Amino acid sequence: MNATINLEKKHFPVLLKELISIISPLYGGTFIDCTFGQGGYSKKILENKKNYIVALDRDKDIYYSALKFKAKYKDRFKFYNTKFSQLNRIKLDKNNLRGIIFDLGYSTSQIKNSQKGLSFLDKGKLNMRMGMNDISANDIISNMGANNLTKVFKIFGEEKYSKKIAIEIVKKRQKKTIKTEDLVEIIDNIKKYQKKKIHNSTKVFQALRIIVNKEISELINALINSFQLIPVGGIIAVVSFHSIEDKIVKYFFKHYSEERNSSRYLPDTVNSDRCFKLINKKPIIPSEAEIKQNPPSRSAKLRYGIKTNDTCDFSKLREKFKNLTDVEKLR
Ligand SMILES: C[S@@+](CC[C@H](N)C(=O)[O-])C[C@H]1O[C@@H](n2cnc3c(N)ncnc32)[C@H](O)[C@@H]1O
Repeated sequence: MNATINLEKKHFPVLLKELISIISPLYGGTFIDCTFGQGGYSKKILENKKNYIVALDRDKDIYYSALKFKAKYKDRFKFYNTKFSQLNRIKLDKNNLRGIIFDLGYSTSQIKNSQKGLSFLDKGKLNMRMGMNDISANDIISNMGANNLTKVFKIFGEEKYSKKIAIEIVKKRQKKTIKTEDLVEIIDNIKKYQKKKIHNSTKVFQALRIIVNKEISELINALINSFQLIPVGGIIAVVSFHSIEDKIVKYFFKHYSEERNSSRYLPDTVNSDRCFKLINKKPIIPSEAEIKQNPPSRSAKLRYGIKTNDTCDFSKLREKFKNLTDVEKLR
């Protein structure tokens, strides 16, 4: 799910060279790094002394790495412990803003922090909260009914055995609280005769992380707010890791950049929701060399657009993914 996960000590910011090459023509202003993490992107951008970074992260533990950046880069660096869906609340000089960047998912240090319980390799109480959450994975697994659990696993995890797993969870939790290792065992028992390309628990854990962190509504709101914040000529760039995220990012850039007509028999007209210029129609993906150095980067996709128009109606984006944001509200 996340290409910065690497079990070795070293942190590899994903698609860094590619990201820098698309934003560097705009150097000499402020960039918002919406997913500061271990600061890989911010550090590279700050190497150019004309640049400023406003960094955000929802995880309060990140604050300590941000302090080191503050000490080094002084007034060229600001950090806010906030969710990126709220980036419109940040005070900054919009005229100086050149780019807004996202590297979705989790950092190496978060995955390795067993208290966060993001990984199926952890033991103990289910958690998965990245920060500023209203629920944990334990709340979901302990309280949600079988029908809703099935929906969550199916829609956010595309898990074939969603229903069986949900029913088993509801049965088992009557006897004891389900911990991370118990959930892994339930899934293993149900899927034991299946050929596996990925770990049995990957899909259910992905689904739980999405609902616990409201990843879908976070992303949609952040994209819309980014558009509203960035001046015409500025860039929005997003690295995503799973297919649901990429579908949203792709729609955001493609739908709002293409000329469309309600009928193919009518001549082309400029559509009012055309507000981006796309340089690359296809996503940028990691090179063989990057995948070899950092295998989890293989699922990363970088998409970006340059704002061309001051207003845009994003109601179609919200409508298109309403089925997903509705599932995030299930309890
Ligand atoms: C993949 S890491 C970013 C890594 C970073 N690009 C680097 O090079 O170190 C993603 C970071 O985004 C943060 N994050 C995820 N969702 C967020 C949200 N909705 N709001 C703010 N931060 C978020 C996570 O806490 C994590 O630290």
